[in-house]
Amino acid sequence: MKIGIIGAGNIGQAIAKRLARAGIPASIANSRGPSSLSSLVRELGAGITATEIEVASKADVVFLAVPWHIYAEAVSGLAPWGGRIVIDAMNAAIVGPDGFQPADLGGRPSSSVVAEQLTGARLVKAFNTLPAAALASEPGADGGKRVLFVSGDDASAKREVAQLIERLGFVAIDLGDFEMGRRLQQFPGGPLAGRNMVQFP
Ligand SMILES: NC(=O)c1ccc[n+]([C@@H]2O[C@H](COP(=O)([O-])OP(=O)(O)OC[C@H]3O[C@@H](n4cnc5c(N)ncnc54)[C@H](OP(=O)(O)O)[C@@H]3O)[C@@H](O)[C@H]2O)c1
Repeated sequence: MKIGIIGAGNIGQAIAKRLARAGIPASIANSRGPSSLSSLVRELGAGITATEIEVASKADVVFLAVPWHIYAEAVSGLAPWGGRIVIDAMNAAIVGPDGFQPADLGGRPSSSVVAEQLTGARLVKAFNTLPAAALASEPGADGGKRVLFVSGDDASAKREVAQLIERLGFVAIDLGDFEMGRRLQQFPGGPLAGRNMVQFP
């Protein structure tokens, strides 16, 4: 299974680090091109390679980890997605003078809005609830495992993403469809967003 990461900032790097630690190869891309990521991939180790966005987007599982206000530009021209899984790790938040404000989505789940841009993709919302530093750190904590929440309208895609999450050492909890994700895991506002939760055996 090939994995690509679009976005190489806090969240893209956190995901790449966890994949590297689990021995799962992946490619990572930003808008400035692979040469701008050479020191990052050196630090992450042999399994992580820097690539172009178009190449990362052709992986079997693609993480979307760019700021909300530029995601449409970041994915433009990448469709059709041919049934590949896209993990929406983004939060539909706009930074304003008073901190994070929710983007105006007319009450729709942010991933439903994203799905409209990603023709043919099997979209899953995940990896958006933990702050980047917590996501980057060891998933094992205090004898338990950190929790990542998953939501989406495609049950088989969610199962594949949950399996990947568990391979990384986290616990995956399926919240339901995108609408349940909107209510529970969307940031800002969702009660699970930003929570660093640990499940004990
Ligand atoms: N930070 C957190 O704790 C956190 C937690 C949960 C979810 N999130 C969500 O995760 C997403 C990413 O957040 P972040 O904190 O990682 O942001 P960030 O640190 O600002 O990183 C954004 C990345 O996107 C890249 N980028 C910008 N324009 C691009 C384009 N057109 N095409 C491809 N890549 C582009 C940037 O690199 P270049 O400018 O070099 O292209 C950079 O690597 C956001 O939606 C955020 O809401 C963040």
